[in-house]
Amino acid sequence: MTSFEALQKLTITKLKKQPKEAVGATLEEIYKIIALHDIAYHQQDTPTISDAEYDKLVELTSMIEEMFPELISEKKSPKRRIGSPPSEQFSKVIHAKPMLSLSNIFEEEEISSFIQRTKRFLKLPEETSIEFIAEPKIDGLSICLRYEGGKLVTAATRGDGITGEDVTHNILTISDIPKFLSKEVPYIFEIRGEIYMKKSDFFKLNDSQLGTGKRKFANPRNAAAGSLRQKNADITAQRALHFFAYASGEISEIVSHSHSGFLSYLADLGFVVNPLSTKCTSAEALASAYEKIGAARSMLEYDIDGVVYKVDSLEWQNRLGQVSRAPRWAVAHKFPAEKAITRIIDIDIQIGRTGALTPVARLQPINVGGVIVSNATLHNEDEIRRKDIRIGDYVILQRAGDVIPQIVSSLPKKRNGTEAIFTFPTTCPKCGHPAVRLIGEAVTRCTGGFLCNAQCIERLIHFVSRDAFDIEGLGSKQIILFNQLGWLKKPSDIFLLPEKEKEIALLDRMGKKSAKNLVNAINMRRKIELERLIFALGIRQVGISTARLLAQTYKTLEVLQQNCIYAQNINHPSYQELVDIDQIGESIANDLIIFFKKEENQRLVSSLLESITPIIPEIANLNSSISGKVIVFTGTLNQLSRAEAKAKAERMGAKVTSSVSKKTDYVIAGNDAGTKVQKANDYGVTILNENEWIQLTSQ
Ligand code: IVH
Repeated sequence: MTSFEALQKLTITKLKKQPKEAVGATLEEIYKIIALHDIAYHQQDTPTISDAEYDKLVELTSMIEEMFPELISEKKSPKRRIGSPPSEQFSKVIHAKPMLSLSNIFEEEEISSFIQRTKRFLKLPEETSIEFIAEPKIDGLSICLRYEGGKLVTAATRGDGITGEDVTHNILTISDIPKFLSKEVPYIFEIRGEIYMKKSDFFKLNDSQLGTGKRKFANPRNAAAGSLRQKNADITAQRALHFFAYASGEISEIVSHSHSGFLSYLADLGFVVNPLSTKCTSAEALASAYEKIGAARSMLEYDIDGVVYKVDSLEWQNRLGQVSRAPRWAVAHKFPAEKAITRIIDIDIQIGRTGALTPVARLQPINVGGVIVSNATLHNEDEIRRKDIRIGDYVILQRAGDVIPQIVSSLPKKRNGTEAIFTFPTTCPKCGHPAVRLIGEAVTRCTGGFLCNAQCIERLIHFVSRDAFDIEGLGSKQIILFNQLGWLKKPSDIFLLPEKEKEIALLDRMGKKSAKNLVNAINMRRKIELERLIFALGIRQVGISTARLLAQTYKTLEVLQQNCIYAQNINHPSYQELVDIDQIGESIANDLIIFFKKEENQRLVSSLLESITPIIPEIANLNSSISGKVIVFTGTLNQLSRAEAKAKAERMGAKVTSSVSKKTDYVIAGNDAGTKVQKANDYGVTILNENEWIQLTSQ
């Protein structure tokens, strides 16, 4: 796969030198990355790249699509489809009018082009001055509120713009949103706007998340999304969420002829509209509104990521309509990433759960876009060298949508000679064990395992995290405390904590009730799904989905462990079986082998199995036409995605592997199937085309 960094460095000039096929492959790659990030952002509320990086990828797809329109995929192109499909957790709502997105501009000069475009479309004389409204682009999540007869009946998220999620119950807990409208309003009255969390409430929430061992949110927008998309509305009620109204959806009667008039109408009804909206009649006026709102940005209680310019006349908005997923009557002028200059006071080393030594820059605290920043990760040894970062250096810091800041570069011209080059440690600064960097790896690791207390605490925190044991009341604060008391040194010690209930009750801020609750929460987890247990072990590269695959394949932890031990010998059939699991491959297999090879990890497994009983994954349909069969997919399927086909096969009790062997029962060959078909022929394996496969699995 093309690396994310390589994609970021692509330019139109470089692309023009490549043959169309290569550009097509790159485009597919970017579509895939964008789709993955859409899921991380919209469904899991956990973005993995910054907004600025995401925007760059989207721009790159547009450049390529402009060059080769024939390569455009209507389904995958981010400019053509909207957001990501709604998740399965909530019931679905089909929007009466699609919820659109906005096209972005980044440069001041683009404001005039927007105005010119608008005039051309409306066939207005050059000298006409159009009225626009400039308003902050709130960095939250958009919502559609539907009132019928003045009563709030549905609240839905944007989802993919066509279908959203029904979050009515959760919305009822937000006080900025009127549940009944006191004045006469059209019978059908849909209001759209942004739900957001104030920066101060976001920090408070993250502090308490940390205290209870829950994952921190990356930014206020994700915190708002995570808080709203809760199954239990009581949790939403505990989170301080707010709402700005800024647009309409379906409305059965016209209430205003202008956007500004509509905003005043909303304010009269008790909705909160943004006070910074300004009427502008020229490109200069829009640019100055942009400057003004930009200057206020860091002082605002909420995050904004640009300024939206909207044509004020609703009749003109109507005539302008939309192009693909964005209206022609509005554009978002995005802010550049927030930057600031500060000084590195020191560089510390943090130890992660896999023993990775991560250098962290301790900074002279500085306000970057309303957030006080005092630390920034330096990633690894090479990063420090590549950016020539020294202790005492002045550096440019950047916060691009996310709260975690990056160091963009050092400023060598500002040096006075007192700066010190950082020497990367060769022993773990926390436990003194050797720290080793393997050839070809960027990361240096402590070799202390559970003997390194820092590593041990991180492993324990991971062990009780949300997708792992998720034990209520056992967060990082309690883990550190119990560890200091000598009660918690390794995961299996968690299950000995109930014996200490009385001592726990006597601890500061605990008491009998909390101790009892903690003991109950621990005891509840003595039975746990195998996939959670595997994930909790903290094996490198084994996230929850890989853990699920392993659980489904091996059914017990003992069998998984034994197979990984056998697989140390790559000629043993267990090795082949491991790398054959679809999506596992050699690299993950290697990490599994390394993990189970270590005696301390074998001890960890057996001590855990003394206290807990893993729940064996649900056995798939054993009576289906393909149960027990070994299947390999190759080539592109037309009617269903590979992921869907694979999921169905597994649900029906088949095992999907990635390479053809004599154990394979069927090879399903889509378009452009390659060498696997040849191999299947060699082994005499049955080859099915897509239709034959569909027929076989619909029996
Ligand atoms: S107008 C047809 N106004 O930005 C567009 N959107 O990137 C209707 N947003 O989906 C939206 N602040 O969630 C509009 N003042 C504002 C906004 C705003 C934030 C969001 C909205 C939209 C997204 C597009």
